[in-house]
Amino acid sequence: MGQRIDYSESFYRRHAQRYAEVSHKYIQSVYSNVSHPALRGDADVMERMQELAPVGSRGLDAGCGAGARDVFLFWQAGYDIYGVDAIEENIEEARRLHPEIARRVSVADLREPINHPDASFDFLICNAVIQHIEPDIVMGRTLPEFARVLRPGGVLQLVFKVGKGIATLYDRDYSADRSFHLYGADEVLERLSELGLHVIPAEHGKLGGVMYFADTKPANHCLLYARKSG
Ligand SMILES: C[S@@+](CC[C@H](N)C(=O)[O-])C[C@H]1O[C@@H](n2cnc3c(N)ncnc32)[C@H](O)[C@@H]1O
Repeated sequence: MGQRIDYSESFYRRHAQRYAEVSHKYIQSVYSNVSHPALRGDADVMERMQELAPVGSRGLDAGCGAGARDVFLFWQAGYDIYGVDAIEENIEEARRLHPEIARRVSVADLREPINHPDASFDFLICNAVIQHIEPDIVMGRTLPEFARVLRPGGVLQLVFKVGKGIATLYDRDYSADRSFHLYGADEVLERLSELGLHVIPAEHGKLGGVMYFADTKPANHCLLYARKSG
């Protein structure tokens, strides 16, 4: 994974089991300072994606994390979902915890082209991952690849840490300082729009539009669902 300002590679390698535990117990998944009343935690984010993509849809969780919790939950709910993550230990942890999805998860670096043909997926999830990728690569490679592998009408769920530059925070769940690339919602929205991805608005009280929340670190995040035109 090359030069990393946040040393995320060694962080995730060292903490793969703990990360899976934190994720599966939803320890960091209760949100505060939410911009939308229906946005309380990870479960709400997943539920909305499952409304936007019918059961049986084919999806990709890009940066699925140690244990691949969401790949497992989507698969359990009847989705044809796959997960990739750059860290082998994270994928091994997913296979250990969830042998049922062992062949659905694999190692891949989102700084490189995604190893799937155009229009392969009905939906793509990318939660708290671009914070680990240099902005020029996110804008020039990662987001364009997301747009390429989504089919027209497909939906991207994107969560990213909001702000400018780099933030370093103490994460008490790992007793470690962690650094992240921050992104402005405007710059992300502009790039998505250039790529033919348009934010799904908030309607009928459902999650939609450009939403914000803080996690337990606390770090401010932006959440959006965007549909590929065509
Ligand atoms: C904060 S975790 C989020 C995991 C999961 N999406 C979730 O919401 O729980 C960030 C994940 O991104 C992965 N990651 C970081 N850089 C990556 C890259 N270049 N390609 C693929 N995965 C990457 C890390 O290994 C880690 O599992």
